[in-house]
Order: sequence, then structure tokens, then C-alpha cells
Amino acid sequence: MALLSGKNVVIFGVANKRSIAWGIAQALNREGARIALTYQNERMGDAVKKLAGDLEGDTVLAPCDVTVEGDIERCFETIGKEFDGLDGLVHSIAFAKREELGGNFVDTSWDGYALAQQVSAWSLIGLCRAAAPMMEGRDAGVVCLSYYGAEKVVQNYNVMGVAKAALESSTRYLANDLGPRGIRVNAISAGPIKTVSAMGVSDFGSLLDSMAQKSPLRRNVDQADVGNTAAFLLSQLSSGLTGQVLYVDAGYSIMGV
Ligand SMILES: NC(=O)c1ccc[n+]([C@@H]2O[C@H](COP(=O)([O-])OP(=O)(O)OC[C@H]3O[C@@H](n4cnc5c(N)ncnc54)[C@H](O)[C@@H]3O)[C@@H](O)[C@H]2O)c1
Repeated sequence: MALLSGKNVVIFGVANKRSIAWGIAQALNREGARIALTYQNERMGDAVKKLAGDLEGDTVLAPCDVTVEGDIERCFETIGKEFDGLDGLVHSIAFAKREELGGNFVDTSWDGYALAQQVSAWSLIGLCRAAAPMMEGRDAGVVCLSYYGAEKVVQNYNVMGVAKAALESSTRYLANDLGPRGIRVNAISAGPIKTVSAMGVSDFGSLLDSMAQKSPLRRNVDQADVGNTAAFLLSQLSSGLTGQVLYVDAGYSIMGV
């Protein structure tokens, strides 16, 4: 039997076929999960609806901009009408203004800092709170996406590094809150992958080059590598694992000088 057969999973963060969330959607669907995809706004909805046509089963679609008051609750109302419960939630969303993703971190503005935190870190809390009533008691799982810049200085990653540090810490606090309700919460720290968001980081190409040269596997990772790990984290194979950050980075993070 497929790893996730009979499971319902909602995925936040598909924008196009390069999105990490799309790699995750394909892996989870291949493993038998029924998928709900959300899209940030109507403009992005067309592309997401088209991609949904490539998935097996009846894909549920719902808009959700995490900065719009009431959107998260409305989104789960829509999903609740289609799913009789929720076994998995994937948080694959982040945003920072382009001007905050280059230059000196010391020049970070309050507006830029607050927006990056709201979209990239606080939203995990908001989504978990709204989803928990549909997930409890089902041995359900939450997965979010982080990056090495949460813990080490990565040139130009700046305000997003601090947002990812908050996301990783939130993963641990949420795991503690939601564990007694039968919900596990974990993060995947993915290596650099060429996506629309990633291209917003100044000189992103050099991160890709460095990883391909220095990681133990001597290659970059891709959306499928991350998708397979997400399938593991949302399945019974990881039943004793919560509050952790798993590195899907070809081993890059173990290297010293
Ligand atoms: N690409 C990489 O190198 C890399 C590496 C590690 C972690 N990540 C993380 O993976 C996740 C997915 O990013 P990606 O690289 O696939 O890029 P992407 O641009 O394909 O996805 C980012 C998503 O965030 C969504 N989003 C932004 N603002 C939003 C809002 N206000 N409300 C709802 N959704 C919003 C966008 O609609 C989009 O779907 C992010 O958390 C990112 O930080 C990316």
C-alpha cells in the first residue's frame, strides 16, 4: 500500500511548477494522499488550478493570503467542507522585500522585518491554530521549509535568515503544544533550489555553485528530494519524530572549513 493512502493533506505555497511545494504535492500524491492546494491570490490561482489537473484524485483549491485578516479561517472552512479531517499540512511560504535580501543586514527596516516575520514565520502559527481542530487525534503532521541561513550567516539572506530562525524555533514550540493532541511538527532545511523566491536573494547563483562543489554528495538538491522527505515526515515511518529540523542539503551543513 502507498505510504499516504487515505490521507488528506493541505499544501500552502504552490506558485508554479518550480515551487518546492509543487515537488512536495507530487510526492505526496504519488504516495496516495488527497491534496488541497492553496494559492495566494486570484492572479496566481490560474497557474495553480492548471497544475492541480496533473494530480490524481479530486484536488481541493482555496485562496489564502496569510496577511489578509480572515483568509486563513476562510481557507480552512472551504477545506473542511471537502475533507472529513486533515492528516497533513505543508507550510512552504515565505516573503521578504527584494531590498531586504541584499546589502547590509544592519540596514534592515522595521517594515521589511515585520513583513518577513509575518509571512514567513508567524503564518506557521496561524495555520497550525486554524488546522488543529481538523487534525487532532489522527497522528497528523505539519512540515515547514527552512534554510541554513537560520543558523549561520549566509551573505544577502539577511532578514530571511532571522525569519527562518523564528520559524525553526516556532516548530519546537508548536511541537510541544500540539504533541498531546496527536500532531507532530517538523521542519525541512532544504539546500538552495532555483525558484522564483530564491532568485530574489542577491547572487543566489553562488549559493548553488558552492553547494554543488562542497557538499558531500557534490550536487544540488531538487524539489523531488524535498518532496520525498516531506512524504516521510507526514507518514507513519516518522511516527516518533517531532520538533526537529531535517537537512535535505546533500550534506552541506555538516561541513567545516
Ligand atoms: N528555493 C530555495 O532555495 C529554498 C531553500 C530552503 C527553503 N526554502 C523555502 O521554501 C519555501 C518555498 O519557497 P520556494 O523556493 O518554493 O519559492 P516559491 O516562490 O515557489 O514559493 C513561495 C510561496 O510563498 C507564497 N507566499 C508568499 N507570500 C504569501 C502570502 N502573503 N500568503 C500566502 N502565500 C504567500 C507564494 O505565493 C509562493 O507560493 C519558502 O519557505 C522558502 O523560504 C526555499
